[in-house]
Amino acid sequence: MKFETKVIHAGIVPDPATGAIMTPIYQTSTYVQESPGKHKGYEYARTQNPTRSALEANLAALENGVDAICFASGLAAMDAVLKLLDPGDEIISTYELYGGSYRLMVQIFAKYGIKTHFIDLNDKNALKSHINDKTKLIWIETPTNPMLSILDIKYICSVAKKHKIITCVDNTFATPFLQNPIDLGADLVHHSATKYLAGHSDVILGAVISHDKELAQRLHFIQNASGAVPGPQDCFLTLRGIKTLHLRVQRACDNAVEIAAFLKKHKKVDKVFYPGFKDAHNHLIAKKQMRHYGAMISFTMKSDTKRTAFKVLDKTKIFSLAESLGGVESLIGHPSSMTHASIPKKERLSIGLTDSLIRLSVGVEHIDDLIDDLKAALG
Ligand SMILES: Cc1ncc(COP(=O)(O)O)c(C=O)c1O
Repeated sequence: MKFETKVIHAGIVPDPATGAIMTPIYQTSTYVQESPGKHKGYEYARTQNPTRSALEANLAALENGVDAICFASGLAAMDAVLKLLDPGDEIISTYELYGGSYRLMVQIFAKYGIKTHFIDLNDKNALKSHINDKTKLIWIETPTNPMLSILDIKYICSVAKKHKIITCVDNTFATPFLQNPIDLGADLVHHSATKYLAGHSDVILGAVISHDKELAQRLHFIQNASGAVPGPQDCFLTLRGIKTLHLRVQRACDNAVEIAAFLKKHKKVDKVFYPGFKDAHNHLIAKKQMRHYGAMISFTMKSDTKRTAFKVLDKTKIFSLAESLGGVESLIGHPSSMTHASIPKKERLSIGLTDSLIRLSVGVEHIDDLIDDLKAALG
């Protein structure tokens, strides 16, 4: 089945009771048993829910995995992946990543004896020199949030495999329409489904897709034991959003190509971070491992101050100033005071995340309106 067909049909069967074509929202906490242990496969809704099962089957198919496990948020999904580790184990993570992912590793899991080394995963020597007997997980995010750097998934996973280290790729920015990490050797794929997958800024939900049955079973155990499950209505909304994933992402990517070119030429703009530029760092890797370059763009202003950035952020009318990304509407944000405020300033600056850096999540509106909006705000 091709991707465009999978988004609509994979894992979805008409409701056995009524034939309803849309998976019903099974708003129930429990299921009646005929006699103790004699039931239809469902006992208690933390453990199983049919709306959630349909979403999990759909996501497993989209990422070419064997199973998917859904959670109450992207961070709850990441929390479950980190719970695969034991005290004393170590993680190697990209040093450019979503601020909340950094906070989870540094402020929560470090307390339980799980240490994370944040490194430039593009630096082959740094990767090799940080691997030791305790390394159990490599956390990859590509394209990275908010610098839009590209990491070579195939290379990193091949090194990890030699050392029997689990790899997990946060595929939130790319979506399975643009990039399939499991095909490139990853063990696990992580999503904040809150973003492009659900796609309409009305759900918080996370998912992990596994290429391996045993890892998936361990994650189902953690899901049930820790209990951070999504509600059935959120699963329904995510499933509904996924049906148009390819259409939305394609349109947003097409808009992003034009906006990136517009920003590059603008006299008040300094650097534009967009993996689709031929001179972007690791552009050739992006070209190889992605089908398009995504719809996220970051840029800095020549006058590199927070004040200059705030002037632009205050003036856009169609780009709404808000956290999050990946919805149908275009958003504008200021990572250093919003999504990445939990990363210490020194570390932010070391990756180029300056105070004038502005991040755009390009939506599916008409391109002329989007460019006019940015023109007015920058002018
Ligand atoms: C790349 C990335 N990963 C993970 C998350 C966390 O997801 P959630 O907000 O659904 O918990 C986010 C949220 O912005 C993100 O951008």
